[in-house]
Amino acid sequence: MERTPTSYPENPAPYFSAPLIAEFAKQMVDPPGGDDRIALFFQGMLDVLHGREVPPELQHEVGVHLQILNTAILDSEIVPSYAANKLLRTFQKQFMYRNTGHEYPFTTRSVEPWRSGILTVLLTPRLNEVIQDLITRQTQSNVVQRYNALKFILTSCVSPDVAHPQLLDIGCSQNLGLKKIALGGAFEDVRIVEPRSNGNTRQNRRISYKYNSLSRSPFRIGRSMGVDLYDLRDEANAEWVYACSSYPSELLNEARLEEARQLKSMDVMNVSFTQSDISAALRINTDVDGDIPERRLYDVAFASTVMYQMTKTEREKTCQLVYDRLTPEGIMVIQDFVKLDSRQLRFSGPGSDKFTYRTVVKNKQTDFDKSEEIFIWETARCTKAQLGLGQLMVAGRLLTVSDFLLPG
Ligand SMILES: C[S@@+](CC[C@H](N)C(=O)[O-])C[C@H]1O[C@@H](n2cnc3c(N)ncnc32)[C@H](O)[C@@H]1O
Repeated sequence: MERTPTSYPENPAPYFSAPLIAEFAKQMVDPPGGDDRIALFFQGMLDVLHGREVPPELQHEVGVHLQILNTAILDSEIVPSYAANKLLRTFQKQFMYRNTGHEYPFTTRSVEPWRSGILTVLLTPRLNEVIQDLITRQTQSNVVQRYNALKFILTSCVSPDVAHPQLLDIGCSQNLGLKKIALGGAFEDVRIVEPRSNGNTRQNRRISYKYNSLSRSPFRIGRSMGVDLYDLRDEANAEWVYACSSYPSELLNEARLEEARQLKSMDVMNVSFTQSDISAALRINTDVDGDIPERRLYDVAFASTVMYQMTKTEREKTCQLVYDRLTPEGIMVIQDFVKLDSRQLRFSGPGSDKFTYRTVVKNKQTDFDKSEEIFIWETARCTKAQLGLGQLMVAGRLLTVSDFLLPG
């Protein structure tokens, strides 16, 4: 039986699940990164779900399309916080790259352009792409700033005897991080808090200053490789990565976007890319460039925001393969939504961000099964961190980062 416009429900539950609607309401009040544009997106979504400001003659069609959208969300079997995040990214991609009648990011502090943008996407063939993205893609942010911790660890831990350390970036996305390190570009300053400083701002300033000087100092890398399942340099994939990599308000930061565009377009000496599953890439016996049959060893392997996308078995296999391909003094740096129980890593489940974003190090020279907690980040944007109590090997001595940054 065809539904009449008046059958559009007051209560939106028939279209989306109650936990998902509760998640929208949560993000409307407390948006990730404090971005009030995200709050407006979810307000717009809730308005549409309630039929607010939806012309009566469109309500039936909107309802049917919301049901289709909900099926796509359910098909991808994701937890509410991840589903909400992914929905924002899929719509953001439409707002950024398909004309929805307003210039994006919307600069007004009003819900109106969000609501009308959402309706435009729902009522046009653009919805097909949204459905496709929801079902087939995982969120794939590529945040260059995350690599500042790797740079700090390189400049503080890698022995001067290693002339040009070889790096491996697992799940490198567009491979921007290694390129930035190779080119010596400066990262955004990081604010560091020493847990034992008891609010001593002078001490925190000293630590932050030293940290930022180290992560800014030049560092020459040897032949290094980024590996990713997808070639995210390809335009169709690149749109998805850009839509995932920024909160709406961050898209107003033109300098940051320009840097990403430039890094993506550059060929950088010593930095190569391999499209592969990391296990396959580490198992094969050839060099990345394909022509040198050698089994290259790496000084540092970096896995930033990638292992949470793997199963426990895949993670264990990856760590074992990395161990085999590290030099005897090599280290693996993992950055992810994790927590440590007796120095064993526990990951947030797929699609969940319930643990805090941390940087940890595994040392081949000591006990690779154990992880050293180095930084506990406020967010995965990596601009503010508390120091962990784990130890780094600096010039043959194990030191906590506090001891290293604040000697005496
Ligand atoms: C969230 S992105 C992180 C990108 C980048 N490392 C960063 O921190 O900005 C995770 C990336 O890992 C890739 N990935 C996931 N599983 C992988 C695997 N088994 N092998 C290689 N890459 C993988 C995904 O394709 C995606 O591009």
